[in-house]
Amino acid sequence: MWAPSSLASSQLSRLGARDLRGAAAVAPAAPAPQQLRLGCSRRRAQRVVAMAGSGKFFVGGNWKCVSARSASSALHAWGISLLDDSFVLKNHCSFVYPASSLWELALLFLNGTKDFVSKLVSELNAATLEPDVDVVVAPPFIYIDQVKNSLTDRIEVSAQNVWVGKGGAYTGEISAEQLVDIGCKWVILGHSERRNIIGETDEFIAKKAAYALSQNVKVIACIGELLEEREAGKTFEVCFKQMKAYADSITNWADVVIAYEPVWAIGTGKVASPEQAQEVHAAVRDWLKTNVSPEVASSVRIIYGGSVNAGNCADLAKKEDIDGFLVGGASLKGPDFTTIINSVTSKKVAA
Ligand code: PGA
Repeated sequence: MWAPSSLASSQLSRLGARDLRGAAAVAPAAPAPQQLRLGCSRRRAQRVVAMAGSGKFFVGGNWKCVSARSASSALHAWGISLLDDSFVLKNHCSFVYPASSLWELALLFLNGTKDFVSKLVSELNAATLEPDVDVVVAPPFIYIDQVKNSLTDRIEVSAQNVWVGKGGAYTGEISAEQLVDIGCKWVILGHSERRNIIGETDEFIAKKAAYALSQNVKVIACIGELLEEREAGKTFEVCFKQMKAYADSITNWADVVIAYEPVWAIGTGKVASPEQAQEVHAAVRDWLKTNVSPEVASSVRIIYGGSVNAGNCADLAKKEDIDGFLVGGASLKGPDFTTIINSVTSKKVAA
């Protein structure tokens, strides 16, 4: 596992401890683990263990679009320099990220071309995926049709955003009705990039969620705290506030997957430790139990996002309240995304 851990392992675990003390009044009581029999007869002797929720494992790929041109400016702005077999992020610290080849790195930054999408779809079509996982990928709007027409039906397609209400004269927007028309079954809402860069509020996001659900578009509802909020011991407070906005608008949770994505972990290589993620997932499940219903708390999938990769997914997947992943960068490489999907096997042990 190569993820740099100087912040994540030491500093953030201290922060996590402080956070827990600050939120003692709402400290989660971990629900009793359930054992779920696998649907696949080939593995009848195996069980899914340690899932506090009863939902099927879920993995989403968020195919963010970075053009080659913006990538080179981003590299410059971030102080990244290329070495023979690694690239170095020099602005804040001296993390060194191995890249198996510069070609792989180039591919990452060429995401956003039809050729790239076509290659990725071919890799996914050829992959052997565990049966006990719901898999969804979210291309940029302009590639949804291409992906729908070429990707195996085994994988469903999501949008990365949707208009807040019924379609109409809203230049540049895409409505839920249009997503349905094109066969797009999911939408990601509340992603931190839309909250913190575009300025979408909790209430606006929740309204989008309610409208999308009313049109039978399923929702990946993101939540998550900024680094300064974690450092101030406000992780639970922020996540619960975001959850409350969703809960005030959503009446049917059957088509909702919650994605906990700490903002400090998104696209940074600083993955939350399995314990840090589990702590928040358990708290969110407990919040749902108290504020929505025990049934919803048990059935809703709570997935983790933020620098998930092929090397760290298995340890995260073992945690009882982690029901899958929302993956950005690593979802752009077919074999890595496949490994992440198949990390459901980490929840399986011989009976
Ligand atoms: P990341 O992105 O996996 O690249 O950190 C996650 C996301 O944006 O959903």
